[in-house]
Amino acid sequence: MRTKITELFNIEHPIIQGGMHYVGFAELAAAVSEAGGLGIITGLTQRTPEALAQEIAKARALTSKPIGVNLTFLPSINTPDYPGYVKAIIEGGVTVVETAGRNPVQVMPALKEAGIKVIHKCTSVRHALKAQEIGCDAVSVDGFECGGHPGEDDIPNMILLPRAADELEIPFVASGGQADARSLVASLSMGAEGINMGTRFIATKEAPVHENVKQAIVNASELDTRLIMRPLRNTERVLNNEAVERLIAKEKALGDSIKFEDIHGEVVGVYPKIMLEGDMEIGAWSCGMVAGLIHDVPTCKELIDRIMAEADAIISQRLAGILRG
Ligand SMILES: Cc1cc2nc3c(=O)[nH]c(=O)nc-3n(C[C@H](O)[C@H](O)[C@H](O)COP(=O)(O)O)c2cc1C
Repeated sequence: MRTKITELFNIEHPIIQGGMHYVGFAELAAAVSEAGGLGIITGLTQRTPEALAQEIAKARALTSKPIGVNLTFLPSINTPDYPGYVKAIIEGGVTVVETAGRNPVQVMPALKEAGIKVIHKCTSVRHALKAQEIGCDAVSVDGFECGGHPGEDDIPNMILLPRAADELEIPFVASGGQADARSLVASLSMGAEGINMGTRFIATKEAPVHENVKQAIVNASELDTRLIMRPLRNTERVLNNEAVERLIAKEKALGDSIKFEDIHGEVVGVYPKIMLEGDMEIGAWSCGMVAGLIHDVPTCKELIDRIMAEADAIISQRLAGILRG
C-alpha cells in the first residue's frame, strides 16, 4: 500500500506507533520499524539527552529502517532540555519527529535544517492548521477515543477526520481508536493517509512492559476507560482502577477548587511502577477505548502483517463486491 505517509517517511506500511511514556523504548520502536511501520521512541521517558542518544543507538543496532522520536511539550515546572534532546535526535540519525502537546514551534528550525520530517499530534482542526502553518510535514489527528490526552473538545474521529480532510493541505494520519484493518480502511476512506496506534502496540510481544499491563488491556472492554483531570483542563483517558476511582472521588468532592497537588499521589511518578513492575492499582495510566478491540498479544510483525492482509481483503473483496452488486 502506498500513501503520502509511506512516501513521506519512507516506510512500507502506513502504520505508526505513537510515542508512549515508559512504553516507547528502543525494543518496541525497532520492532515496529523492522515490521515496515514507523516505530517511535518516547523522548522524555529518557531522563537526559545523553540517555536518549543511547536509546536511539540501541534502536539503530536493531534496525536500519527509519525510526522516529516523540517530543511531548507539556506544562511542567522544570522545563526539559529540549535543545539537548533535539541535538541527540539529529546526531542519532533519526528521520522523523512526532511532536505533541503544545505548539512545537521552538524546535522547528533545528529539525527542518537537519532535514527531519515533523508530524505533530493534535486533537483539533485548529491546532492541525497551526501545525501546517509553522511548517510541520504532517499531522496525527487524535480523536476523543484516544488513550492519553484527547484535549477538551471531545470530537470523535468519525467527525474529526473528515473535518481535517476538508481543511488540511498536508497529509494526516488517524490516531485514537485504531486497532485493525477495519480502522485502517475506514480512516483511509475519511481522508487519512495512514493510522497511528498507541494502546494496540502495548499489547504486543516486543513492548517492553510488564505482562500485567498487556493482560489488563486484553481483559478490558470499551467501557473500562475513564476521563480524569478534566477540571484541570488536562484531560487524560486512562484505564479504570482503584487509584482512578479514588481520583475521581476527589474530583467530585472538590469540584472546581481541585488543584494538581490534590491528585499528586495518583498521577506523579506512577508510570515506572505500572509499566515496568506491573503494579496495576498504584496510579492512573493512559489507555484508549480501543482496548475493547484488543484480544491478543501478537508480535509487531504479526499485527502489522495481519492489518495489511485484512485491509487488502476488505478493499478488494468486501468493498469491491458491494460495488459490483
Ligand atoms: C500508555 C500511554 C502513554 C502515552 N504517552 C504519550 C506521550 O508520552 N506522548 C504522546 O505524545 N502521546 C502519548 N500517548 C498517546 C499515544 O501516542 C497515541 O496518540 C494514542 O495512544 C492513540 O490512541 P489509542 O491508544 O486509541 O491508539 C500515550 C498513550 C498511551 C496509551
